[in-house]
Amino acid sequence: MRETYWCIKHKRYCTPIGEALKFINRYSYDTIKRLKEFDKIRTDAFIKIIQGDARKIKLPEDLKIDGLFTSPPYVGIIDYHEQHRYAYELFGFPRLDELEIGPAAKGQNGKAKKEYQRGIIEVFKNVSEYLI
Ligand SMILES: C[S@@+](CC[C@H](N)C(=O)[O-])C[C@H]1O[C@@H](n2cnc3c(N)ncnc32)[C@H](O)[C@@H]1O
Repeated sequence: MRETYWCIKHKRYCTPIGEALKFINRYSYDTIKRLKEFDKIRTDAFIKIIQGDARKIKLPEDLKIDGLFTSPPYVGIIDYHEQHRYAYELFGFPRLDELEIGPAAKGQNGKAKKEYQRGIIEVFKNVSEYLI
């Protein structure tokens, strides 16, 4: 963008950044600081990333877990696949846009909210099977 534009994310007019270097500097130093902090507490714990639909995904049958952390999607605000497009392209992950719960494209009307609630309920039902 080179001129003032209607910003879909902020839902207002935004002006393009004239000078990117100060942001790159600030974010780079912040990243280094966070990496150093994380390095103090990191362990060699085994980590496995599974890409899939949390409503349906099946985990190993004998897997039992103590608890879950989640940061669920917002209803009808963000298209996460687009927001993280760089990651899909950089790492070559397959895109599963059609499996998003509460995608921006479906908006925030009553039908979209009901569908979102059903989706989140399905996720909790699915994962609760693995809880101790
Ligand atoms: C608020 S974000 C949380 C992001 C995550 N905490 C992070 O730091 O990257 C919500 C996430 O839920 C994911 N999501 C939406 N529908 C999903 C589904 N059916 N199964 C699994 N994840 C889904 C979105 O793709 C998005 O990455």
